[in-house]
Amino acid sequence: MKYRIVRYEEIDSTNLEARRLSWQGAEHGTVVIAEKQTAGKGRRGRTWESPQGKNLYFTILLKPNIDVEKIQMLTIVMAYSVARVVKRALGVMAQIKWPNDIVLSGKKVCGILTEMHMQENRVEDVLVGVGINVNIEEFPSELQDKATSIYLETKKKIDREALLKEVIEEFHEQYLVFLEAQELSFLQEEYNSMLVNKDKEVVVLDPYGEYNGVALGINTNGELLVEKEDNRIETVFSGEVSVRGLYGYV
Ligand code: BTN
Repeated sequence: MKYRIVRYEEIDSTNLEARRLSWQGAEHGTVVIAEKQTAGKGRRGRTWESPQGKNLYFTILLKPNIDVEKIQMLTIVMAYSVARVVKRALGVMAQIKWPNDIVLSGKKVCGILTEMHMQENRVEDVLVGVGINVNIEEFPSELQDKATSIYLETKKKIDREALLKEVIEEFHEQYLVFLEAQELSFLQEEYNSMLVNKDKEVVVLDPYGEYNGVALGINTNGELLVEKEDNRIETVFSGEVSVRGLYGYV
């Protein structure tokens, strides 16, 4: 990608900064990266722990000409890209917890927060924020059974700059395929093979009522197909799916 990297030692959140830069006219392909975030954002209003100098916190600003209902597919494209890079570069078995967590040994190593802004019914910009636990050696006790880092899994210190470059390049490649196709059949099979939820019992936390089922994989829109106990297949668009049996991490 013709990308421009904007670096900060410390920022509130790279997603927030990317949004501010977008307002000031920053171009598609701008990557905002920080050594530390003071208000790192997770999904659903959670915070994302962002200590100094150990991990990767970055946001890719995109200004794609696509329909609003397709934007969430970009989260899938990014999760797929990160999982591929981790697997290829580090030789560790990366899995994906739909839609957007990368998991190593049953613990979360990467989260993705995609945010979008609209202006007069069209998508103005999309912020794909990525947090990867790279070289961090220890987590606060409440996270220890849920989170891990590449270092903790491989016992190797990773060159964060090289990892960043690989992820950006992989994402760019996949992004171009996605833009052309406007759907996800090109990655469906491989994504599903990395899906930690696949063929597992999951609990779908639907706002209209929780239900259980078996996750079958994503469809070409990136939605999760879940077979309920009565054999009906539900399509899960968003919301939280918890995976039973995944150690400490539901
Ligand atoms: C999640 O809850 O799993 C999503 C976490 C996303 C964290 C990243 S770190 C870089 C970017 N800036 C933020 O404030 N959040 C995302």
